[in-house]
Amino acid sequence: MRGLNMSTAVVTAAMMLTSGAAIAQEQVEVLHWWTSGGEAAALNVLKEDLQAQGIGWLDMPVAGGGGEGAMTVLRARVTAGSPPTAVQMLGFDILDWAAEGSLGNLDEVAAAEGWDAVVPTALQGFAKYDGHWVSAPVNVHSTNWVWANKAILDELGLAQPTTWDEFVAAMQAAKDAGYVGLAHGGQPWQEATMFDSVVIGAGGTDLYKRAFMDLDPAALSSPEMVEAFTRMETLRSFVDDNFSGRDWNLASAMVINKEAAFQIMGDWAKGEFLNAGKVPGTDFLCFRVPGSEGTVTFNADQFAMFNVNEGFRPAQQKMASAIMSPSFQIAFNKVKGSVPARTDVSGDELDACGQQGMAELAAAAEAGTLLGSAAQGHAHPAAVKNAIYDVVTAHFNGEYDAATAAQELAAAVAAAQ
Ligand code: BGC
Repeated sequence: MRGLNMSTAVVTAAMMLTSGAAIAQEQVEVLHWWTSGGEAAALNVLKEDLQAQGIGWLDMPVAGGGGEGAMTVLRARVTAGSPPTAVQMLGFDILDWAAEGSLGNLDEVAAAEGWDAVVPTALQGFAKYDGHWVSAPVNVHSTNWVWANKAILDELGLAQPTTWDEFVAAMQAAKDAGYVGLAHGGQPWQEATMFDSVVIGAGGTDLYKRAFMDLDPAALSSPEMVEAFTRMETLRSFVDDNFSGRDWNLASAMVINKEAAFQIMGDWAKGEFLNAGKVPGTDFLCFRVPGSEGTVTFNADQFAMFNVNEGFRPAQQKMASAIMSPSFQIAFNKVKGSVPARTDVSGDELDACGQQGMAELAAAAEAGTLLGSAAQGHAHPAAVKNAIYDVVTAHFNGEYDAATAAQELAAAVAAAQ
């Protein structure tokens, strides 16, 4: 009896192991920072897509826009020798991991599906390394947007601001009426996200390119950069007392709930408005940060595919293929607030803000004013990005005046290279 039981147990254990392995192979482990309501809704589109193909999803969420927290967790996983299957990643971080030899190869699926012909060149620059596809682009976001509560503007008789001065006057009018002028979460990446637009407003596309792309010390410490920091001080004067540490989606909620008039944030904020049942043009307005019109500071979320054991590769390749399918690109980006990462899909199903975003992206690409977001890892490597975060945040919190901040910026960027 005893012997029989034991052999049954061994057989059962062996069966469990076999089916466990089979399940594991048809599974992807995904590290990402899509933890807000709108983001979770968008991510579900991908999860369900994969589930329909029998591919399981092991979720590894680490909150924090720009992915700083997620990148720290990733480093620990790779050091421990067990990278996730796929990792949400931005711009230069992808190239850094590829240079370390940590990423897999998607050339076969990319060739079979003709990615080269449909992914915008600006995105291919980050999705390919050394001529090989290493990641699958999900979307294109951009950072130079304002989100406004329409009821507050209507109540105060305010038109959509078209210049920086009008924008400041509108924030002042909202503040005078007892609303928060600018909803903001005091986290370095959120301040840096506002800084993208403010730098363009203060010194044009030229300053942005010279400072953030060329890392030119003269531009970083220029009078225009001092003006950018002065504008950040103006913004600081319109945030509420409890801004420190607040998550970005809670700042969006302040605009959604009519506590605050405006938020400067990438178009992932739109995902929050939509998730709350709000309608563009009726409940909220979207417009480019006054002074930054004509330029689009973009960031594309991609899933970088890590080197995994052979057994896990089929699921990884299927995930990459699912991400790049035209129907997924539409379904996902309608919910996420971003626009598709393919040039061959129609934007007809997107809402008014999405259609505006898509048209502006195409126009900026044509005009040479489609620039990688500095705050979101698309203008320079992470070391420089983090150095800029530190100075922008220190200044926003009153550590430096505008003139000193510009000097510190130039010094910090030089030291980070
Ligand atoms: C990502 C967005 C995300 C946002 C806030 C950005 O870095 O590109 O997809 O919604 O962070 O989490």
